[in-house]
Order: sequence, then C-alpha cells, then structure tokens
Amino acid sequence: MNWEPEVMQAYKLACEVRMRAYAPYSKFLVGSAIKLVGVDELFLGCNVENASFGATLCAERTAISSAVAKQSATSSKPKIDYVVVVANSDKPTPPCGLCLQMLSEFVHKETKVYLGNSTTLLKSYTFLELMPYPFDTF
Ligand code: THU
Repeated sequence: MNWEPEVMQAYKLACEVRMRAYAPYSKFLVGSAIKLVGVDELFLGCNVENASFGATLCAERTAISSAVAKQSATSSKPKIDYVVVVANSDKPTPPCGLCLQMLSEFVHKETKVYLGNSTTLLKSYTFLELMPYPFDTF
C-alpha cells in the first residue's frame, strides 16, 4: 500500500516513541502520533505501565494528553486529523475502548486511524468505523 509521505513521517515518529514505552509488565510496546487539524507539530505518546496495572496509560491517551497540554489557552478545541498507532504485532492493533472514547472527544467525521507494526503501516480506518457510537452528553 502507498501511504502519503506525511503519514509515513508520523508513522516513523510513532515507531521511535514506541521504543521509549515503559512496559515492563506486558512487554507490549505501543507508540502513537497524533496530527491535529491546522497544527504542524505531531504529538507523540507511548504506553506507561504501572505496578497497579489499572493506572497504566495507553500510548494514544498519552499522545492526546500531550496535544491538549500544548494547545494555547485561547485556541478552540483541538480537532484530530489523524492518529497513528504502532505495536509489535503482525495484525493491526486498534486503540482500546478507553482510548477510542477519549479520542472521540476530539475527532471529526473524517478523522483517520492508521495502524502499523515495527515493519510497516498495515491498515487505516476512519475513526467512526472503529467507534460509530461514542458516548457524548450533547
Ligand atoms: N495499550 C496501548 O498502549 N494502547 C491500546 O490501545 C491498547 C493497549 C497498551 C497498554 C498496556 O501497556 C499494553 O498495551 C498491553 O495491554
């Protein structure tokens, strides 16, 4: 599959940040890169596990938290253009339900999710294909 150069660059950065994952319990390293609409910088995250297990943060939630933290206080709500997720698995690893719900706060109709492993990008979905009915209060 021929992916756009911009997406390949995000994939490369997601691979790099994946290598900084703190995953001593599962040994399952995950990296994520998030592109916001109208923002050139890519926001990166990796999974950060915890001895309690429950306090573990997934790569996607780390990346979106970083994106929000870097937004200026006066700018409007960030909108995700696309998310790249890289894991060490032969088959594509979509974001877990918790991450999908958290990402849903910031997606738009066309937001894409690219899934890859350490060798290549494997597949892409629209966010709405992965989570057609996210919880929302409005
Ligand atoms: N993990 C992620 O980083 N993203 C997901 O969407 C699913 C799971 C992490 C959490 C944990 O550190 C490891 O993968 C195994 O579940």
